[in-house]
Amino acid sequence: MRKQIVAGNWKMNCDLSETKNLIQVLKVQDIPSGVSVMIAPTYTNLLAATSLLVDYPITVAAQNMHQSASGAFTGEISAGMLKSVGVDHVILGHSERRAYFKETDALLAEKVSTALEQEMTVIFCFGEELQDRTHGREFDVVKNQLQNGLFHLSGGDWNNIILAYEPVWAIGTGETATPEQAQEMHAFIRRTLAEKYSDEMAQEVSILYGGSVKPNNAAEIFGKEDVDGGLIGGASLDAESFMAIVNAFV
Ligand code: 13P
Repeated sequence: MRKQIVAGNWKMNCDLSETKNLIQVLKVQDIPSGVSVMIAPTYTNLLAATSLLVDYPITVAAQNMHQSASGAFTGEISAGMLKSVGVDHVILGHSERRAYFKETDALLAEKVSTALEQEMTVIFCFGEELQDRTHGREFDVVKNQLQNGLFHLSGGDWNNIILAYEPVWAIGTGETATPEQAQEMHAFIRRTLAEKYSDEMAQEVSILYGGSVKPNNAAEIFGKEDVDGGLIGGASLDAESFMAIVNAFV
């Protein structure tokens, strides 16, 4: 079901003690009813995070996983390993994985299938680069990423997919898409889903915006009809600013 979600992608930040400290501060905050809150610490701190958050309404997600169940893949982590430490949400397709680790749409399609087979929920990231937008091809790029990464799924599979539109030019740059640009793209994404599946299904999918969301711009972005929340990078590393964003839904 379409939910309001704020997820913190901690990326390669916070060692074990910093992770525990940040979680302890988050735990004493009130979470508004109706908002799902997630955090994605790095792999080595996932067990500490799930242990600290047992019976507490913050979901722990991983930032990536491998597409195979097990085997000779040195340095990789499987869905089963994540589940064994209490993690059943995973971010896939982040632009940093696509750019620095050469993750392709085809690889991501495989990872998504594996995650769903393992009954995990996927936060699937996608979004155009600056040159795509300056050349007016942002809608084509986004449609292709959806088609290639996700359109092999059945309608039912989408119960476990959360979308995160993250224009690459807005990530970590301080430059945010305007609320109108976010709404325009989110409405396009929903139309694209409706064309492939159905209107009803498209209305049920949560679509998050990511890219320089801060306490001072979150309310305006989240106030747009087709924006169901945010995937937050830098501002999720500070409990006060993250909670201000969590509380930004009007
Ligand atoms: P920033 O909020 O730091 O721009 O990062 C966004 C992001 O990449 C979340 O996945």
